[in-house]
Amino acid sequence: MSSALPNLTDMPTPALADVDLNALRERAVTTLRDNDVGVFTRPGTHQYPHQWNWDAALVALGLYHIDPERARVEVRGLLAGQWADGLVPHIIYHGGASHYFPQPEFWQTGHLTASPEIPTSGITQPPLLATCLYKMHMRACKKLEATPSPATEMEHASSLAFLREVYPGVLAWHRWLHTTRDPEGDGLAAIIHPWESGTDNAARWIETLARIKPENVPLYDRKDSVHVAGDERPFQGEYERFIYLLDCFRRWRYDPKMLYERSPFLVEDTLFNAVLHRADRDLKAIAVLLGEATDELDTWLEATYVTYNERLWFEHDGRYCPFDLRNTRLLVENDCATFMSLFANLASSQRAKRLIYEHLCNAAAYAPCDPGMGQPTTFWVPSLAKTSLFYEPRRYWRGPAWVLMNWFVAEGLDNYNYHTLAENIRQHTLALVAKSGFTEYYDPRDGSPAGATGFSWSAALTLELLADHAE
Ligand code: GLC
Repeated sequence: MSSALPNLTDMPTPALADVDLNALRERAVTTLRDNDVGVFTRPGTHQYPHQWNWDAALVALGLYHIDPERARVEVRGLLAGQWADGLVPHIIYHGGASHYFPQPEFWQTGHLTASPEIPTSGITQPPLLATCLYKMHMRACKKLEATPSPATEMEHASSLAFLREVYPGVLAWHRWLHTTRDPEGDGLAAIIHPWESGTDNAARWIETLARIKPENVPLYDRKDSVHVAGDERPFQGEYERFIYLLDCFRRWRYDPKMLYERSPFLVEDTLFNAVLHRADRDLKAIAVLLGEATDELDTWLEATYVTYNERLWFEHDGRYCPFDLRNTRLLVENDCATFMSLFANLASSQRAKRLIYEHLCNAAAYAPCDPGMGQPTTFWVPSLAKTSLFYEPRRYWRGPAWVLMNWFVAEGLDNYNYHTLAENIRQHTLALVAKSGFTEYYDPRDGSPAGATGFSWSAALTLELLADHAE
């Protein structure tokens, strides 16, 4: 184990002092406004024309700083796509089809007993909503406390009323995850498709995907490389499997039991379950505010904490890994999802220390470093360890830094009192967006932009980071 945290004063530090933070804030607001199409905000200007699940939660969090009522519209838009059984889908097609693939009809989700009127996909995404809702409400509380006035009182009341409005839907989604996706009730919800992980192309899926043999894959016209360079997007062999899985699900008419029992991809993910655990905790805080019972939430919280630590900890290497239920094995590729345990307070302080000292601050793996100490990088946090054979600093989830991941890691470090390191990562993140704009991901070597442009959650989280920076 390396004995010290990196010396942050020696590290290539981004020149945040030269950044005009007010202008940066204005640019973030403009990006969100440009992507606003009324009932929802596009995740990116060209690449993503519909409403995505966890993007919507993050967009609401960002919009809350400029227009709380519009933030609530974003959440209502997402919940308009909720299925009768509780599922909140990963894509909501408010405006119907577009040039995007998969188009709504490809999912074949219309006319199912549980699906809503509005076209949606048939799978979910990491349940970040409760966390964003709670954070938004906490801002309202802080504002009221700092400057009591009729306006701040009114916003606080509206925020509370909104929590009351959406609480049943969010609880139903969590219940769906804890039952349909965890029939044994051991505390870990399984995902059935890499798209459900939110980190679609992550290297931790390579092994499982390679074991899947796609058969009779339907014809489709891949569109994700139209606006983004092919070498920044998933490989064809993996994309083929994404579509094969989707085809299985639609043949099984999205019967939740059948999906769980038969999906060739069935994984208890580190990131997904950390987001769920944190969201359960935040939902519990909301329940307490609303005077609702918390017993069910307490049961979930306890079960997840125990099983996450028992089943997903890889002692040999001192980090958490997803568990592949189909092939009963840990998926040990070392990617940034391992740090999500910090965001959710799932790691003991001992385990947190191993994650931070042996991995995050290890120059060969994740920390910024000069040539000679490993693959040189200037910016936190590569999405895949630089030691991985699959590391590619510009390919989707295989190396680039993401604003969302950096935010997760910084929040996680704060949870364990590594505040200086957290602040360093926040500064890197603001420097990244100041340098290269609000793009989907960034090359950690020089911070150059990659992926989709005009990316909403990069702008939304910039507003969140700037607000925290100002406090
Ligand atoms: C990409 C990301 C996913 C996100 C979507 C829309 O697919 O991997 O997490 O929700 O884009 O931005």
